[in-house]
Amino acid sequence: MKEQIASVQAEAVARIAGITDMKGLEEARVSILGKKGSLTQVQQGMRNVPKEDKPVVGALLNEARATITAALDARKTALQAELDAAAVAGTDLTLPGATLATGGLHPISLVRDEAVRILRRMGFTLSDGPDIEDEWHCFDALNTPEDHPARNEKDTFYFDSGKLLRTQTSTVQARTMEKQAPPVRIICPGSAFRRDAIDATHLSAFNQIEGLYVDRAVSVGDLKGTLEYFLKALFGSETAVRFRPHFFPFTEPSFEIDVQLQAAGQAPRWIEIAGCGMVNPAVFENIDKVTGKQLYTGCTGFAFGIGLERLAMIRWGIRDIRLLIENDARFLAQFH
Ligand code: DAH
Repeated sequence: MKEQIASVQAEAVARIAGITDMKGLEEARVSILGKKGSLTQVQQGMRNVPKEDKPVVGALLNEARATITAALDARKTALQAELDAAAVAGTDLTLPGATLATGGLHPISLVRDEAVRILRRMGFTLSDGPDIEDEWHCFDALNTPEDHPARNEKDTFYFDSGKLLRTQTSTVQARTMEKQAPPVRIICPGSAFRRDAIDATHLSAFNQIEGLYVDRAVSVGDLKGTLEYFLKALFGSETAVRFRPHFFPFTEPSFEIDVQLQAAGQAPRWIEIAGCGMVNPAVFENIDKVTGKQLYTGCTGFAFGIGLERLAMIRWGIRDIRLLIENDARFLAQFH
């Protein structure tokens, strides 16, 4: 029996060494160590071994099983290593991985988010209103008379229903005051639409950010301080800002705000960036008239409207506003 064990072991080890695939390896394991395997069959001879020899023969059997199992394991590891090497043959694993192209935010979204972040830090909260508006919220509530040029069909997109695409986010001033009592401190970023011919500085669909602050005893000083702080936070603390008297029906007095820009090697230029002013008392009266509540008459406040395309153009020195709507990936990729 000892010879039998030795020969099964030697045969098994030799066989295993010559196996070249995983399937052959599993077949060998079953045919040697399995229920009907060659070693298992030799093991069945144990019952005929004299009692005193059993410990020695038993030890030999265990040793044979252990040696064969180790040979199977070693061959398996070696075969797996060969398979792994074959799988990556010809591939340079030290090359950097393929990068996945990721998108990024559009420059208008970037300036809008930054502007909103600054204004929220100053205590403004977000408000909202629809793009499709009625004449009341776009014009009448905002003290804009019937014969004002902005109301002309040549300037505004009207629907047959009499509704229109809002020409300004100022509509949200009226909508917010109709809904809530003062004090009001809101901003509203959103789209506005005008029947303008599209050129390097005009789009017919564009974006604004509106602001409204209403309380008791709000002054022009508050207006100036707030907007100067905002523009310096956005463009840098050295930025020069000026307020030029202007006219808007819903504010009195009204101003346009210019920011001074200096491109490399050029003389500084003033660029108009926003409209603003102290809310016209007529607007407060209009709101109180429709709500039937006396909440706003006697209040004071300021409002402003900033062009977001303008902000982006100044921020990044973009010369043609149309680049912002063409969706040319080569242009947009610069902002990622
Ligand atoms: N709505 C004006 C425009 O689109 C901008 C503006 C001016 C908004 C003065 C305001 C404001 O809130 O007070 O040209």
